[in-house]
Amino acid sequence: MRAAAVSDALLEIENYSGAFRNEDGGLVPVLHQVSYRLKTGKITAVVGETGSGKSLTALSVLGIQPPTFVRSSGRILFRSVDLLTLDARGLRAIRGSEISMVFQDARAALNPVFTVGRQLADVHRLHHGGSQRAAMKRAVEALSRVSIPEPERRARQYPHEYSGGMAQRAMIAMAALICQPSLLILDEPTTGLDVTIQSDIMELIVELTRSRGLTTCLITHDLGVVAETCDEVVVMNAGRVVETGSAEAIFTRPADPYTQRLLSASQMLEAA
Ligand SMILES: Nc1ncnc2c1ncn2[C@@H]1O[C@H](COP(=O)(O)OP(=O)(O)OP(=O)(O)O)[C@@H](O)[C@H]1O
Ligand SMILES: [Mg+2]
Repeated sequence: MRAAAVSDALLEIENYSGAFRNEDGGLVPVLHQVSYRLKTGKITAVVGETGSGKSLTALSVLGIQPPTFVRSSGRILFRSVDLLTLDARGLRAIRGSEISMVFQDARAALNPVFTVGRQLADVHRLHHGGSQRAAMKRAVEALSRVSIPEPERRARQYPHEYSGGMAQRAMIAMAALICQPSLLILDEPTTGLDVTIQSDIMELIVELTRSRGLTTCLITHDLGVVAETCDEVVVMNAGRVVETGSAEAIFTRPADPYTQRLLSASQMLEAA
């Protein structure tokens, strides 16, 4: 009686497959029956080498996959609603307010011509209404909450005045605090940052997930990050999910040869 059971997953991707249409009109398959679940209140890592389909699957959750991607099968259930059946309006209602995402290149997601505070305030008003003044107050609070020093002054600065780590914090503030989603997806949130800043950002993500009761999906290459912070792990390779399980099980008893290779490669990196 599957329908009657209360699911412990906020999001369930089921048999999601698709291909890119190339210039000749041919189809190049890239996702093959991708299935994974994001358990409510947990941090799930999606790991795998470059090109394995991690971002494409996550973008599909928000309905922002590239237009040349053609789905051939699958469902993406959020609170038991198939997101793939929603029209543009239905998706807009969910994007940001229910599901928000920090993109792979966070700094590029900030608009260079507006101050960071203004951008946070605008998104706040979009989702929650209210005056510009009240929204700016929320923006400064959000910057402070993600440990940006002197948040009032920083709110008046432009993205180019932010370091990479600070821009990432600002994007996390936008996605997790201003939008107030139930599901937060972060695509490579620490890639390209210094190691100490990486671990600060990870701490922030864990702390926000726990304190706000978020369900978090963390896409990453970095298995070191996963071991320390994540509850569940999904391993992808070449457009397929090859293994899923608790972080503890994946790290101590990886069943799939690809996961074993990924783990031993990362241990070699750590030892180096
Ligand atoms: N716009 C696009 N047009 C054609 N192919 C694409 C496009 N975007 C992605 N792909 C292909 O789809 C596959 C999955 O890409 P995806 O970006 O999801 O990988 P990823 O796991 O996120 O990799 P990375 O770790 O490098 O971010 C890859 O083979 C990629 O080349
Ligand atoms: Mg990616």
